[in-house]
Amino acid sequence: MHRTPHMRTQRMGRMLITGANGLLGKEITRYFSKGYKVLPTDLAECDVTSAKECMRVVGGFRPEVVVHCAAYTDVDRAEREKEAAFTLNADGTRNMALACREHRSLLVTFSTDYVFDGASERPYAEDDPVDPLSVYGRSKLAAEEAVREVAPHFLLLRTQWLFGAHGRSFISSILERAERGEECKVVSDQKGAPTYTRDLADAVRRLLDTGARGIFHFSNEGETSFFEYAAFLLAHTGWGETPVTAISTSDIPRDLYPAPRPLHGLLSKEKYRKETGVSPRRWEDAVLDYLQTGIEGGHA
Ligand SMILES: NC(=O)c1ccc[n+]([C@@H]2O[C@H](COP(=O)([O-])OP(=O)(O)OC[C@H]3O[C@@H](n4cnc5c(N)ncnc54)[C@H](OP(=O)(O)O)[C@@H]3O)[C@@H](O)[C@H]2O)c1
Repeated sequence: MHRTPHMRTQRMGRMLITGANGLLGKEITRYFSKGYKVLPTDLAECDVTSAKECMRVVGGFRPEVVVHCAAYTDVDRAEREKEAAFTLNADGTRNMALACREHRSLLVTFSTDYVFDGASERPYAEDDPVDPLSVYGRSKLAAEEAVREVAPHFLLLRTQWLFGAHGRSFISSILERAERGEECKVVSDQKGAPTYTRDLADAVRRLLDTGARGIFHFSNEGETSFFEYAAFLLAHTGWGETPVTAISTSDIPRDLYPAPRPLHGLLSKEKYRKETGVSPRRWEDAVLDYLQTGIEGGHA
C-alpha cells in the first residue's frame, strides 16, 4: 500500500513527558524519541500543580501516552515541606490523571519502595500492604491513590535507587567524595537494588508493547546495601584506596537526614517477568555499563 507522509506521521504515536529535565525524564525523552513524536515538558512548559495547565498541554498535543516523571524527590526536605511535597506529588499527579482521562491518554508514572515500611523479610510484591514511613512516601502513596481513582488506563512502575546519565544519584555523590579525598561513611543496614534509568525506560517500552496496565515493580536484579554499593563503585573506578566505613541507620544525624527510610525495600520483579518474559539484568552489570558508557559530562 502507498503511504503518504501524512499517514506516516499519524502512525507515529505521540508521547508527552513531564519532568523532562530530571534524572528519569531526560532518559525517557532520549529513549522514546526514536519511536514516538515526543513532547518533553518541565516546569516552564507544563507546571503539573496547575490542573488548567495540564488540561491545556495534554489537550493541545493529544498524546496517546503521557509519561509523568515530574515529582518532588528531595526525601529529607519533604519532612520540612510537607505541603510542597503533597502539592507536587499528589495534586500534580491527580491533575495529570484528570487530563489523561479527559483526552483518553494512557498515563505512565512512577512510584517508590518508600510506600512500604521496609520491615518485610522478602521482596515486596505489587499487592503487599503499604505503610509509608516518611512524608515523601506518604505523598507518593497519595499520588498512587489519585492514579487508581482517576485514570481509567494507567501503568505505574514502583522503582528504587535510580542512577543514570542525566542527573545526580548515589553514584555521583560517592565518586565526588572520592575525588575530594573524603572518607565515605555509608549505611550498611538499608537493602535494595540500584536501577539504571536506561533499563527502566526499556522496561516501560516492554510493558507498553505487551499492553500491560496497572502496577509493576521494577529495579535491576540482585540485592545490596549502600555500603556494598559504594565499595563496588570505588573498586571499579580506580578509587579503591578511598576509605569506606559502614555505619548503621541509627548513626545518621537526624537533623541532616530527617526522613526515615525503609530498611528492606527490595521489590519483586516476578510480575514484570511474567508480563514481559524477560528478567532485568543484575545491578552490577547495569552499573558497570553505566560507568563504561553512560556517563555524560562527568558526575555533576
Ligand atoms: N531518583 C530515585 O532514586 C527514585 C526512586 C524511586 C522512584 N523515583 C520516582 O521516579 C520519578 C522520577 O524521579 P527523578 O529522580 O527523575 O526526579 P527529578 O530528577 O527530581 O526530576 C523531577 C523533575 O520534575 C521537575 N518539576 C519540579 N516541579 C515541577 C512542576 N511543578 N511541574 C513540572 N515539573 C516539575 C523538576 O524540576 P526542578 O529540578 O527544576 O525542580 C525535575 O526536572 C519520580 O516519580 C520519583 O518519585 C525516583
